[in-house]
Amino acid sequence: MELYIDTANIEEIREAAALGVLDGVTTNPSLIAKEGVDFHDRMSEICGLVAGPVSGEVVSMEHDGMIEEANALLEIADNIVIKLPCTVDGLKACKTLSDRGVRVNMTLCFQPLQAMMVAKAGAFLVSPFLGRIDDIGGDGMELIQQIRTIYDNYGYTTKILSASIRHPLHLVQCALVGSDVATVPFKVIKQMMNHPLTDKGLAGFLADWNARKQTECCP
Ligand code: E4P
Repeated sequence: MELYIDTANIEEIREAAALGVLDGVTTNPSLIAKEGVDFHDRMSEICGLVAGPVSGEVVSMEHDGMIEEANALLEIADNIVIKLPCTVDGLKACKTLSDRGVRVNMTLCFQPLQAMMVAKAGAFLVSPFLGRIDDIGGDGMELIQQIRTIYDNYGYTTKILSASIRHPLHLVQCALVGSDVATVPFKVIKQMMNHPLTDKGLAGFLADWNARKQTECCP
């Protein structure tokens, strides 16, 4: 499964990239606003740090405005992916851009038919928000599974980018159902190599090793 980081924070991206397993970045208007920076400057900075796809989201609500914003974003770097909402205008803009060979990430996907429509329109990525569905008492993983089945039934090549990840269990489940990509907050990326038994086992090995060295070297 490909691993993207879901942030607009440069330090987080730098640290995650240093792990050597980062495949891309997703941002959204809320994440950019939190940083208090110029949108295009920050996108350019991120694209310089990560070679893989970097999603930047438009804020226009209608087709022509979306295309205009997309064109400006595409000037920034070759690895920019245009993020559009799963609305009727977003769908039309997805088709316009995909027909031009532009990679599009269709965001705010909450039901399987949205995913089917954007696949038909040529989207490169679809972003089902599983955490936000769980937040209101739904089953986010069920949506990922439904999209996987629909895409496999018809051979749609749009990649499923599981988004709104809240904890490591979400990632295990995404990998088990065959999500192509997961975009993960830095806090959760840091948890991915953790287990208390690893720490406890390592402490035991080191204690035994140090005790052995003392007997051998210091009679
Ligand atoms: C995805 O691209 C979104 O930026 C993100 O995953 C939203 O997650 P949230 O529900 O934690 O805001």
